[in-house]
Amino acid sequence: MAASSRSPLRPVVVSIGGSVLLTGDGDPDYLSELAELLGRVGHTVPLVVTTGGGRTAREYIHLGRALGLTEFELDELGIDVTRLHARLLAGRIGSPTPSHPPASVREAVEALRHASPVVLGGTEPGHTTDGVAALVAVRLRAARLVNATNVKGVYDADPRGNRAARRIDRLSWPEFRRMVQAATTGEAGQTFLFDRLGADALARAGIPLSVVDGRDLPNLESAILGRSFDGSRIEP
Ligand code: UTP
Repeated sequence: MAASSRSPLRPVVVSIGGSVLLTGDGDPDYLSELAELLGRVGHTVPLVVTTGGGRTAREYIHLGRALGLTEFELDELGIDVTRLHARLLAGRIGSPTPSHPPASVREAVEALRHASPVVLGGTEPGHTTDGVAALVAVRLRAARLVNATNVKGVYDADPRGNRAARRIDRLSWPEFRRMVQAATTGEAGQTFLFDRLGADALARAGIPLSVVDGRDLPNLESAILGRSFDGSRIEP
């Protein structure tokens, strides 16, 4: 499907965390159902999807750090893993999704002119695939970015292992950016809900961010389509 930022239907970008793609629990079934959803929705909405590297990326980064690789080289290791995941998902979606993931924001935007969904991993050192997704969203003037993650939204504390953590259903961009700044340093392989570059880019462009549990596929589909969903919204 041909699509561009001038398409009457505004594109949507989805960032899927690596920790959602591969959990060790029912991954083949999940990946098949996710691919079916993205392929189907991508036929009606111009869609770009980024895939994270998750635990596999962190294992390589950890090993590389022990071997004395530079932060730049560690980022490159992480990027390679995110691209493996993009290949896996793109291969399952099949044509017209390019099986070879675009290597830059520019290439992804160009690919969307001929195919939807387009799936890619990382691009260059210094950020995560959330940052890539945000730059693609800004470039496309996307309607929204959906962050498919392994928790059910944005919480006031890490909900994994903290039963007192409360979900925040709506946040302003300044509130969310303060949370991102406090939780991230920019090191290779760190984990937080979203990265600095991504939060800054989306806030500047006024593009809303929806944060959902990526394993709940009906809910993910609602968030992509701009319908009501269970999760958190960060809005201008
Ligand atoms: P991820 O996008 O997987 O990081 O990139 P993440 O969001 O922290 O992890 P998950 O997948 O949601 O659990 C993994 C690592 O690869 C490098 C960074 O070091 C990042 O931490 N990376 C990735 C880049 O340097 N540039 C990119 O464009 C993407």
